Amino acid sequence: MGVFSLVAETGHEQVLYGHDPKSGLRTIIAIHSTALGPALGGTRFYPYDSEDQALWDVLRLSRGMTLKAAAAGLDLGGGKAVIIGDSRRDKNERLWRAYGRMVDSLNGRYITAEDVGTTSLDLAVVRRETRWAAGVPIEEGGSGDPSPATARGLLAGLKAIADFLWGSRDLHGRRVTIQGVGKVGYHFARMLKDEEVEVIVTDVYQPAVARVVEDFGVEAVGVDEIMTVDCDVFSPCALGAILNQESIARLNCEAVVGAANNQLEKEEDAQRLADRGILYAPDFLVNAGGLINVFEELQGYSEQRAIHHVDAIGRRTSSVLREAKERGIKPQDAAMQLASERIESISDLRRLSRGGLTWTEVEGT
Ligand SMILES: NC(=O)c1ccc[n+]([C@@H]2O[C@H](COP(=O)([O-])OP(=O)(O)OC[C@H]3O[C@@H](n4cnc5c(N)ncnc54)[C@H](O)[C@@H]3O)[C@@H](O)[C@H]2O)c1
Repeated sequence: MGVFSLVAETGHEQVLYGHDPKSGLRTIIAIHSTALGPALGGTRFYPYDSEDQALWDVLRLSRGMTLKAAAAGLDLGGGKAVIIGDSRRDKNERLWRAYGRMVDSLNGRYITAEDVGTTSLDLAVVRRETRWAAGVPIEEGGSGDPSPATARGLLAGLKAIADFLWGSRDLHGRRVTIQGVGKVGYHFARMLKDEEVEVIVTDVYQPAVARVVEDFGVEAVGVDEIMTVDCDVFSPCALGAILNQESIARLNCEAVVGAANNQLEKEEDAQRLADRGILYAPDFLVNAGGLINVFEELQGYSEQRAIHHVDAIGRRTSSVLREAKERGIKPQDAAMQLASERIESISDLRRLSRGGLTWTEVEGT
């Protein structure tokens, strides 16, 4: 399928390809929607097998950001960027600065942040070329790594799920498995241990496993085992599309609550989970903590206000679960409706002028 047909199908506003041969930069920036505000979303640095795979990923991820921002009540649209490459090998100053210039060329329609393979230090370099980069280090005047905020929001969502399923927000003695203990998974493991949860982890990158085992005394299992471990909650915190026909059949949990974006490979996978009696917390609802934190940076960062807004993920999850139950629909559908109804209701507000005269003379009129 050609790029234009793909973009028409997914409803994107704009897709920008950027290339800087000197640094090896190959990037695609996708703006899905600016209906509620500038499109904000992280930059994923990943060794995609093909350009088509990179395009497919950035289109899916940016669409997810539109839903995430809308459901979180933020005045932001949805966008995302990918850079094709190996984040442990291919980063260099010129690459980030060339990328910063490409982001800058969009004049604030797209604001970038962290994602898989990028760090707040990388963003500090991007920031040298554009003001449209958020989540830069605290020492540089930013809000720092958003991952702890994402983990905090996940915990709030998990407590709402616990209350709904088991009648108590107390997680003591529960068993949670985490797939991927990178930036978010690491902090989530720490927070769960503080709640006296039994935590079982895995990661394809052994040093990440070693660190979390050593720091928090969690148990580790093999990458292929994690989805079959008998547990209360499975938490996908690695990459997306891991919930599919084959994997859902193997799950041995009561709920799925994780940070990974686009966990469902296909829309019908939400029904597959429901058919197996597994409660699925919509990813874009419970993983919005980092986005909320980054949004606060754009407002002039206050940690107290950011925490307050991140914790609201718990209340929002409870209300989505209640709504889904009352209407006999899946939480995924209730959350999507929440997001699309907000876009529908707010997006045309810009038609109402705030007053004052603006006049542009158009040549020839
Ligand atoms: N960082 C944030 O604040 C944030 C916010 C919202 C959503 N997310 C999403 O959460 C997920 C994790 O983000 P992160 O920032 O922690 O990324 P990260 O790159 O720091 O961590 C991901 C970890 O998953 C591991 N991994 C990859 N494939 C795996 C597999 N098949 N099995 C087990 N482990 C695997 C990696 O080795 C890595 O350690 C991503 O999908 C990201 O888009 C992150």
